[in-house]
Amino acid sequence: MEGFFVRGGERIQGETRVPAAKNAVLPMLAAAILPKGQVTICRCPDIRDVNAMIGILNSLGCSCRWQGEDLLIQNDDMCKSELPEELGRQIRSSIFLLGPILARMGQATVSYPGGCEIGIRPIDLHLKGLRALGVHIIDEGGKLYCDGRRMRPGNVYFDYPSVGATENVMLAAALLPGVTVIHNAAREPEIVDLQGFVNRMGGCVTGAGTQVIEVRGVKKMRGGAYTPIPDRIAAGTLLCAGAVTGGEVTLRRASLYDLLPVREKLEEMGCRVWGEEDRVYLKAPRRLKAFSQLQTQPHPGFPTDMQSLMLAAACGADGTSVIIENVFENRFGQVPDLCRMGADIRVSGRMAVVRGVEEMHGARVQARDLRGGAALVIAALRAQGDTLIENAELIDRGYPHFERILARLGAGMRRINVSEQTEVHDGTAIL
Ligand code: UD1
Repeated sequence: MEGFFVRGGERIQGETRVPAAKNAVLPMLAAAILPKGQVTICRCPDIRDVNAMIGILNSLGCSCRWQGEDLLIQNDDMCKSELPEELGRQIRSSIFLLGPILARMGQATVSYPGGCEIGIRPIDLHLKGLRALGVHIIDEGGKLYCDGRRMRPGNVYFDYPSVGATENVMLAAALLPGVTVIHNAAREPEIVDLQGFVNRMGGCVTGAGTQVIEVRGVKKMRGGAYTPIPDRIAAGTLLCAGAVTGGEVTLRRASLYDLLPVREKLEEMGCRVWGEEDRVYLKAPRRLKAFSQLQTQPHPGFPTDMQSLMLAAACGADGTSVIIENVFENRFGQVPDLCRMGADIRVSGRMAVVRGVEEMHGARVQARDLRGGAALVIAALRAQGDTLIENAELIDRGYPHFERILARLGAGMRRINVSEQTEVHDGTAIL
């Protein structure tokens, strides 16, 4: 088992490049089975979720290989329509493959997907959307047998703008002759990017970024190369690292536009955040101020993935911050660990009240989900003494070389093998 060791108190400063967005790349990997010919994802992030998806694509008969930072996917020999249960359970995004497999093979068998423990995370909206396109689905003991031989375009209405369900239906319809309209679609920037990807490969999708998406099915898609958008959550995480340590950060290949809700909160906390071309800059005060209230919402509201990071930033801020989580019901999983580090947080249902403390201290803590794990790193950067964060592999799901990037920016952070003998006493590690 691996962990991150963080010696707190170092100022985060300097310049770094933001990786491509995990949440844009994962549906693109699923979409990569639609075109005939090779698909290249340029500057693909080398993270665990991407590697899990590569494993799934390989098991379907595709072949994926890295060429430097680019990922090349060849799908000519794809022959299977069943997702191996064990691989599918590794990541939630395996469900994105349902639409594309149906589009390509006419049938699909998948298990309920795995993923972060941040809520119940049902897939009813995915299935409802596909049923609206004429897919016949039988759910037998956690396995879904989907028959798409009678698929036809149509109108899909979501009573909640689910990101994954919107993407799944977009991809299922990409090769269906006729027009499919998705109403109350999710509007996240990653959906706009998926539209860009599909269209680059010869598809015809319009409206992404609004609540109505129109997919005109094409007969055939072709291979090609695509560079996904920068990761707004990874960028926001790095800004938080600068913010809590009174630091100064420059992000290259970042989009300030996609970071507007995060900038708003960081400025409320006393930081200066500004952008220029594809760069975003942050300059933080010595100590952050609390924010009055943060509520997560579907885009363009405050992104739920950034909530955990802002909660960690609020722990050491001056004053009381209130957070309301409206998207996932179980996204305060890291609170007990933050409290072990000296934070003062009260959780009641979907609300967390964070009373900022002047000082936090290192402790031995455990990542329980991807963003919650990254939040522990943020808290550890500011804490007095040493923190050991177990389950680094959960953080590796979404951040490429997290410890290297932060160490280059000045953090006292490294990856270690966690053994029984590793102890952290009062914020001082015995390794
Ligand atoms: C995606 C992101 C995730 C982000 C989330 C919300 C990827 C790979 N993951 O996840 O990082 O936190 O969007 O921005 O892109 N829901 C249902 N039924 C469904 C589907 C979803 O009830 O069929 C509920 C979920 O339980 C949750 C809410 O809808 O409460 C939002 O989920 P959704 O937008 O689908 O998120 P994901 O696509 O899973």
